[in-house]
Amino acid sequence: MYESKQTNCPKLKAVIAGDVRLQKLKKTFENKYGESPLFYASAPGRVNLIGEHIDYCGYSVLPMAIEQSILAAVSVNQSGSIQLANTNPQYKDFTLPCAGDIHIDRENPHWFYYFLCGVKGIQEHCGLSDVAGMRCVLDGTIPPSSGLASSSAMVCCAGLATMEANHELLSKVELAEICAKCERYIGTEGGGMDQSISFLAERGTAKLIAFDPLRSTNVKLPDDAVFVISNSCVEMNKAASSHFNVRVVECRIAAKMLGKARGLDCSRLWKLAQVQTELNTSLEEMLSLVDEVLHPEAYSREEVCEALGVTSQELCSRLLSANTQHVTHFKLYQRAKHVYGEAARVLRFKSVCESGCSDAVAVLGELMNQSHASCRDLYECSCPQLDQLVDVCLQSGSLGSRLTGAGWGGCAVSIVTREKAKSFLQAVREAFYLADPRRSAEEKHSLFVSQPGGGALISVE
Ligand code: GLA
Repeated sequence: MYESKQTNCPKLKAVIAGDVRLQKLKKTFENKYGESPLFYASAPGRVNLIGEHIDYCGYSVLPMAIEQSILAAVSVNQSGSIQLANTNPQYKDFTLPCAGDIHIDRENPHWFYYFLCGVKGIQEHCGLSDVAGMRCVLDGTIPPSSGLASSSAMVCCAGLATMEANHELLSKVELAEICAKCERYIGTEGGGMDQSISFLAERGTAKLIAFDPLRSTNVKLPDDAVFVISNSCVEMNKAASSHFNVRVVECRIAAKMLGKARGLDCSRLWKLAQVQTELNTSLEEMLSLVDEVLHPEAYSREEVCEALGVTSQELCSRLLSANTQHVTHFKLYQRAKHVYGEAARVLRFKSVCESGCSDAVAVLGELMNQSHASCRDLYECSCPQLDQLVDVCLQSGSLGSRLTGAGWGGCAVSIVTREKAKSFLQAVREAFYLADPRRSAEEKHSLFVSQPGGGALISVE
């Protein structure tokens, strides 16, 4: 008889009958393991509407969950091992013992390491010496390496499944925080947006996610706005390159430089938002401070060391991460400009949604356009194909389009009025996908309307 401690937490637990995807996964599970799953764990991907690369600087972001998710069928046993399989034959089976330290190989970010991050996160948080044995089959519908947080959804799904299999009881906020932290085992120093929206999402509403402490507020999107996701078809696996962590480091150094210039104790400053809090000032004033203190030319290591009064060795051990030790120059001015400007746009976006004004869709579109320009020019996290896609979207009737997620490839998100949605989809289809044979094969999964979906869930039949 299946019993779960989650029964008094209805929002994390559901009884699902007749779900086609779940039934198909159940069959795959039964064929593979010769037994039925005990429960299912699912975690959605997300599209970030605005607020890019600012969560790890301590600023609020504004994502919504998408329908696409990672779904796991799970059985629990005393075998002393965790067996993982994936419905996608590209992703090979993997088995690991429950006893001992879980090793995550950062050099080879295979699919199952994301799952293991989630297992390790729960194991450590709950102080479990050995986790329960599990058999899992995973099924993913989020396009990988596309900026829609498929890897975080895998980590969240694993965290949730491990919690349930070990009869632990954690809140959604705790789960989000654990999963944000444990995904860093794979090497990327993300800020927590993806894991937070995966757990805290609610159908029908976008969320403002704020950090330190983690909390979320509903943001009702205008009724006449439709959000369309389109994939540039350029894959970007952020754990396989250092782009992402270089930005994290640049923001960290910029925070210390700004704080130092204003006489703050910069040994305690790690995030650009902390500088604003300590100075008790506005985002506009922070933008002026960046102009005043930082110069647009990239900073050399020597200049950073001198300005912060640290040795080269201290820079390497305290400020640079494992895969950013090679970086010789840091664009502090541009990165800080982006972060403070983008943080202000997020707040504007939320207040426009709340205002109910008649031209809300156009104003939101303009904010999204500004966000893309800032990501492209100041944060340098776009790529030519993504810029081309954004241009095609704007020419096809979108009121605002921008890259979403980490960038350097992956998806764009566009805001379109409801009446224009159909013609927009057709125009983008023709101009971006059908015009290029390498993209036309992918078109079906690459261009779709997205509504705010629900959050992670444990379900039983
Ligand atoms: C990735 C990270 C997030 C966030 C975005 C960029 O998705 O996991 O924490 O930093 O990139 O906004």
